[in-house]
Amino acid sequence: MLYINNLTKKYGSFTAVRQLSLHIPEGDLFGFVGPNGAGKTTTIRMVCGLLRATSGSVKIGNVRGAVGSREMKRMIGYVPDFFGVYDNLKVREYMDMYGSMYGMYAREITKLADDLLELVNLSDKKEVYVDTLSRGMKQRLCVARALLHNPKLLLLDEPSSGLDPRARVEMKELLKNLHSMGKTILISSHILSELSEMCTSIGIMNHGQLITAGCMEEILYQLSGGKRFHIQISSGMETAVRMLQEHAGVELESVMENEVIITNSGTEEEISALIGELIQNKVILRGFYKEEGNLESLFMQLTGGGEPS
Ligand SMILES: Nc1ncnc2c1ncn2[C@@H]1O[C@H](COP(=O)(O)OP(=O)(O)OP(=O)(O)O)[C@@H](O)[C@H]1O
Ligand SMILES: [Mg+2]
Repeated sequence: MLYINNLTKKYGSFTAVRQLSLHIPEGDLFGFVGPNGAGKTTTIRMVCGLLRATSGSVKIGNVRGAVGSREMKRMIGYVPDFFGVYDNLKVREYMDMYGSMYGMYAREITKLADDLLELVNLSDKKEVYVDTLSRGMKQRLCVARALLHNPKLLLLDEPSSGLDPRARVEMKELLKNLHSMGKTILISSHILSELSEMCTSIGIMNHGQLITAGCMEEILYQLSGGKRFHIQISSGMETAVRMLQEHAGVELESVMENEVIITNSGTEEEISALIGELIQNKVILRGFYKEEGNLESLFMQLTGGGEPS
């Protein structure tokens, strides 16, 4: 869907984005992370055609064309990191304004704006002045506006920043919803736990370069956490510990009052059989789960270095 090829942005002698290449397949929900100043906003703005690249190219679907061409802009919905100021504009008028900027007919806009405001849960705010909306509402309005021309690709620059926990959950649900409706989505964010819950793939950027990118599950699995299991035990702890110690291929990492942590490199069948044996030997389990790789530790590990040489 989105092909970024050797994209570079220089400001004088400073390189904000360096030879970035990335492919986001259709239907992906791609999380774009990196520390402040990594070059995420610069990259997104270049893809949208709001910022001229020093070199490199962008292709969206089958449209290569000039970045920022009318054809490309039709494919993209963009939610910027800053909302802007809209004195004396009501929510409904705001949607009308953007719709007419896309060359849509008034009746078409009204119908679609109603549907979209419903989708982002702002139906009851149509007659309210945009500037008086809360931050979370403004962010959702921005998403609705970005969807007006039915773009295939949605680019959101930190849509959850500054939102309270409930508004963040709502934003996450909205994005998941759009993803299930078939939109390809790129979202930049600093909230890693949120990204690891909803994204299908992820890219980590630092100092203008893409350090790693790929399928979320694979990236998390590569982290050591992928093979650690927590077994929570109500009774039969002694039996469990003895059995786990004797079991080939099982490494007992730690034993707590009601829980043991093991590492095991076996298949799902093997680990299930192991749990079965415990139960057969009258060990009562309260819970059992595999530790997920932690995006935060990967992020710290990959972005911990100094300036690039
Ligand atoms: N107009 C500009 N002139 C000079 N340097 C710029 C300009 N815009 C951005 N930069 C620099 O480019 C680098 C990348 O900035 P960018 O805004 O893309 O980072 P970011 O990853 O979005 O960071 P954040 O997480 O803080 O939003 C920064 O060092 C920034 O100072
Ligand atoms: Mg930014």
